[in-house]
Amino acid sequence: MLASRRSFLMGAAALSAAVATPETVRAMAAMQASADWSLATVDLEGDVARRVMRRVQGRAPAGLEGALFRNGPGKFRRPGGSATHWFDGDGLMRAFRVRDGQATLEARFADTPKRRWETEIGAVVTPGFGTAGDDRARIGSPDDANAANTAVMTAGDEVWALWEGGSPMAMDASDLSTRRFVTLRDDLKGMPFQAHPRYDPDGTVWNIGLWGDRMIVWRLNADRSLHTAQVVALPRASYMHDFTATARHLVIVMQPWVFEQHRMPYASQFAWKPELGTQVMVIDKADLTRTRIFELPAFSYFHLGDAWEDASGTIRFDVAAGKDVQFAMEGARVLVEGHGTVSGEPAQLSLVTLHTDGRAEMVSSGVAAEFPKSDPRRAGLARRYSVHVAGERGGRPLPTGLAVHDWETGRSDGFDFGDGVIMEEANWVPKPGRSGEAEAWLVAPAINLREGVTELHAFDAARVSDGPVVSWRADIALPAGFHGIWAG
Ligand SMILES: [Fe+2]
Repeated sequence: MLASRRSFLMGAAALSAAVATPETVRAMAAMQASADWSLATVDLEGDVARRVMRRVQGRAPAGLEGALFRNGPGKFRRPGGSATHWFDGDGLMRAFRVRDGQATLEARFADTPKRRWETEIGAVVTPGFGTAGDDRARIGSPDDANAANTAVMTAGDEVWALWEGGSPMAMDASDLSTRRFVTLRDDLKGMPFQAHPRYDPDGTVWNIGLWGDRMIVWRLNADRSLHTAQVVALPRASYMHDFTATARHLVIVMQPWVFEQHRMPYASQFAWKPELGTQVMVIDKADLTRTRIFELPAFSYFHLGDAWEDASGTIRFDVAAGKDVQFAMEGARVLVEGHGTVSGEPAQLSLVTLHTDGRAEMVSSGVAAEFPKSDPRRAGLARRYSVHVAGERGGRPLPTGLAVHDWETGRSDGFDFGDGVIMEEANWVPKPGRSGEAEAWLVAPAINLREGVTELHAFDAARVSDGPVVSWRADIALPAGFHGIWAG
């Protein structure tokens, strides 16, 4: 017998023996079983009525009063076909309300045309970010595919569920019932209004909407009526989930994930071309035709922090920067499968500086981070801190803690719950009557995997490593949300 054939047969025998042992059978079964983190993408079969959360630790600090509205996907799977990507589940609006030291939780699905049709036929058929869909989809306008599942902004007595390819969906802030898609001007009906608006201190809202290498810049008054909408040409057609702004400028970060060809799902249209580097376009808010371009090495991203500008005109902002688009294309698909290896390295908190002489640089803190958020009172202004979720590491998806990064000292003050918890994005809640940047609470939900329930935690922003000052526990688990906003 030839050595090569013999070794092949011996290898095959060894393999079959290995597969047959109880240990390997158990290992295989474990790989097929749901991962401990699979609650993050669990399906919710219907709305969740308001319920009291049980206080399990600490006490609610006096003055912590308001509501944390959060959006994120809440249902992925249907008998006749399912969403295959984390970004494509039906939008579920959550409200965590804190009053008189008590917390309640409720959640309602955005009643979109997509959800109504897919409920009727018992199948997810609408193309999305990473879900191909099929010819049973009914799409006459962009909002027919709108999942209303990404983020939220307040608007009077409403909250607006935001997506990135269509209109905001208005929901009643008091009971989360769906009202209507928001049309800011009749001739702009259905135009993309992205999920990450930026705010001026006077309440002005800036947002963008993208199609190819053109961008609509939305400017809303504090009452959420339209001030202006203007089209700006971009130097490249790049996938962008976020932008940022200083008091005087919009900052558009164009990663080298660029449009290649029209097809579905949406993300498959883009090709990762690191050789192009990352470009940043700075636009004068007072005159959108005045632009500057900066060049940076290639990085990928979903989320930016608020930007600020010093007296010399130097612009800084933080970014949860990644190396590639592995997580976006593959990892977020595995998350919905609920088991297996979620590929893609965690993003790292990094600081970008745009100098007045046209140079740009990015420095990484080395800290794994996502969802960077800062004090809303300082949006677009000089600031010292960013909070972010932390603890994610290669091989285990999703964060397990929070950290506040101090850009002045480079220090990080964090708290980690360990692998039994999935931490969600934190919002800054300024302490009443205080103006210091760290004089705030950080309010964030988490999924307690050991108990199988959703929790709400409040940290003191100045002492995150002390752990939560108060924690409440619901009697149910909601899947992980994406983004929220605190309404005091
Ligand atoms: Fe986002």
